[in-house]
Amino acid sequence: MSSVTVVDHPVLTHRVTQLRDRHTSSDTFRQLVSEVSGLLAYEALRDLGTTEVTVDTPVAAAAPARRVAEVVLLVPILRAGLGMAEGVLRLLPDARLGHLGVYRDEKTLEPVSYYQKLPPDIAATEVLLIDPMLATGGSALAAVHVLKNSGVTSLKFVCLVAAPEGIAALHRQYPEVPIFCAAVDRQLNEKGYILPGLGDAGDRLFGT
Ligand code: PRP
Ligand code: URA
Repeated sequence: MSSVTVVDHPVLTHRVTQLRDRHTSSDTFRQLVSEVSGLLAYEALRDLGTTEVTVDTPVAAAAPARRVAEVVLLVPILRAGLGMAEGVLRLLPDARLGHLGVYRDEKTLEPVSYYQKLPPDIAATEVLLIDPMLATGGSALAAVHVLKNSGVTSLKFVCLVAAPEGIAALHRQYPEVPIFCAAVDRQLNEKGYILPGLGDAGDRLFGT
């Protein structure tokens, strides 16, 4: 059964409140999305593999230490997922990046896939799929479907705000995919927006 981890920390909660505020400018919104994404990824990557190395220290000379052993593949769902990538890359500068373009049809709320660029040989790679919003779950499901078809076996989904409906949809189809988020909100409105949510993440990030 998949798990939902709501990362609970005052520093994170404070930023999510700023993200929810309709008066927050695009500039600040971008900055906050980046910071919150880094904090979420920090939690999501808690079990990342490390390997033993020796480090030449200033006082004790050679000392045993550990380094991250795995190269993570970061996959933002375009567009809004792009706003999260920078914050995660600051944690993991060696991460590879794949891109999946999916938008939600405004009328049907069905996902429309329009772009796909993934590096080869990703089957054994630890993948972080990132998108600020998990609403109906359609976009995340479409993206997970592509990744699974590409052979990915180790996959986590990281979002800022999740709706119960989206969590249930992802659970139903891909129970093995863990979800990490900063908040689980109340419900969706009739247009598929998360309540209270933070509005249209892509529009707020890119000023459209
Ligand atoms: C937003 C968001 C998710 C999707 C979530 O993208 O970034 O991808 O909606 O909704 P769902 O769970 O109901 O599929 P949008 O379709 O607005 O595209 P954009 O990122 O290009 O703005
Ligand atoms: N996509 C968004 O950007 N916001 C929502 O509330 C739902 C879907």
